[in-house]
This record gives sequence, structure tokens and C-alpha cells, in this order.
Amino acid sequence: MSVADLPKVELHLHHEGAAPPAFVRQLAHEKKVDLTGVFDDQGNYKFTDFVNFLRTYEAATAVLQTPEDFGRLTSAVLEECAANGVVYVESFLSPEFCGCGDLAAWREYLHAIQEAADRAETTHGITLRGVVTCIRHEGPEIAKRTALCAAETAGDWVVGFGMGGDEGKGHQGDFAYSFDMAREAGLKLTTHAGEFGGPESVWEAIRDLNVERIGHGVRAIEDPKLVQEIVARDITLEVCPGSNVVLGLYKDFAAHPIQKLRAAGVKVTVSTDDPPFFGTTMRREYDMLAAAHGWDAEVFAEINQTAARAAFCDEDTRATIL
Ligand code: HPA
Ligand code: ZN
Repeated sequence: MSVADLPKVELHLHHEGAAPPAFVRQLAHEKKVDLTGVFDDQGNYKFTDFVNFLRTYEAATAVLQTPEDFGRLTSAVLEECAANGVVYVESFLSPEFCGCGDLAAWREYLHAIQEAADRAETTHGITLRGVVTCIRHEGPEIAKRTALCAAETAGDWVVGFGMGGDEGKGHQGDFAYSFDMAREAGLKLTTHAGEFGGPESVWEAIRDLNVERIGHGVRAIEDPKLVQEIVARDITLEVCPGSNVVLGLYKDFAAHPIQKLRAAGVKVTVSTDDPPFFGTTMRREYDMLAAAHGWDAEVFAEINQTAARAAFCDEDTRATIL
């Protein structure tokens, strides 16, 4: 058996970022949306760097216009996850893409997403939970609107609140009000940090947002004190090696610090981020990590246990994961 055949827990997946290109093209065709610039000649998503990736990502979301579209997206995404052996996944959902931040509209989108997720659970045995996510480059005021959507729908399905977007814009602490609102509603917290922002961004995430998990966080390796702090606080990193390589943080999987972080006692997990954008899948991440770092089935089993423990779901759901 290959390590890629193991059952997997994925904690860091952007819902729209997981949209298969063929699915986006089909919707564009149905809705007559012009996607010039989104795909290259081979039909893959096209971008030059991280900020340009965010522009392409947002351009592709133009085809996602109704709750039904998000239901169809959810079915397509979960089918792909299940085909990769993923048994439990948390995806980032942005109310800004689901009804432009309006709470009543968000409830309708969420309903359609949950219905599709229920069907996928029956058909493929995969469980999805949602992490409502604000978009950093849209600023703290829009984030408050997102946090309200999160707080109002918090429960056994919407289990977390997070932040993605351009880490170069503003500071983590600018969003403390929104993270506090989400925490008070019972949501668990994560934020993208230590990807493009460097170690200081991770310090800010810990000090100013008090998150349980960190999206990426890999550049903590540049600051030994920060690594110690992450271990001491029992923070889990949602590491996406393939994404980091494609976006130019590390030259290849062998140069990626995931093994060094693990050896230092950091709780690391493995995810794909935006798989079709980064030409990856969960199976590929496992194969590449095994080849680059000599990880065997025992290591991956431990990583999946770590991920299951760090999942934001309730304990009844957690008991069913692995
Ligand atoms: N990183 C940060 N923000 C994002 C991403 C990502 O990979 N995808 C969508 N928003
Ligand atoms: Zn991400």
C-alpha cells in the first residue's frame, strides 16, 4: 500500500480555490461569463505570483452567482476530496463570495452548501465542516460583516472563523474585533500567517488574535523563539507544502521546513490550500512528502491523528473521523 492510500484529514482548503477548472468553465458557459485571463492555453488556472493568484481566484468566482452554484461546487469539491481518500475536511467559506456579505443571503448559500455536503457524506462517506473566512485585503470593516455572518450561523456545522487574503495588507491585530466576536459565538479560530508575512505575522496572530491554529505558519522556522512559543501554546499548523512551492516560498518539497518544524515538536498537518491552482491533490502531497522526507505510513498516521485532534468540530463528530 502506498502512503497516498491512507485515510486523510484536511484542515486547510479554500472552497472556491478547490473548484475544478472544468467546473468553472462549464458554469461560465451556462452563465455567459467572460473568463479571459483566468486560464492558460492548457486550461489550467493562470497566475504569476501570490497577489496575481488572488486576482485570478477572485475572477474565477464570478461564475459562482447563486446558492445552487455553491451547492454544485460543493458536490464537485467533495467528490475530488473523497477520490483522494479524504474522510474529513474543513473548508474556508467567504460570505463575501456567498451573497456579498449579506446575512440573509449567506444563510441561503450555507443551506445549499450543507445540503450538498450531506449528500456527499451519504454517497462518499466524507464529512465537511465550514470555517467562515474574512478576506484580509478587504479590510477590518468588511471583516466585521463576515464575523457577524459567522457568529449568527455558528453551530455544529459552521465550526470556525478565519482570515485569508493578502498577508501584506495591514496587521493581524486590525481584525481583533472580528475574531473576538467569533470567539464569543463559540467558534474556534485560525488565520493565515507566516506564509508571505514572515515570523512577525505569526507573533501577531498569536498575541493579537489568540488563534488555535495557523494557516501555513511555516516561516516560524526562521525564529527559534517563535517555534518554542507555538509548541508551548499547542498551536497546530495547517501546512500546505505544494502551495508554498508553487508560490515560490521554497524551491521544492525537500527544501520545505515541514520536517524541521515537526522535529522541533510543532503539531503539523498537511493540506492542499487551492489544489487545482497549485497543480496538487492530497495524494500528491503525501507522495511528494514521502519522497522528499522519507515519511512512512506511521508518520502520516500520526499527522492525521494530529489533524483530527485539531479539527474544530464537536467531540461526537471527532470520534467518527478516523
Ligand atoms: N492564501 C491566502 N488567501 C487565500 C488563498 C490562499 O491560498 N486562497 C484564497 N484566499
Ligand atoms: Zn490558504
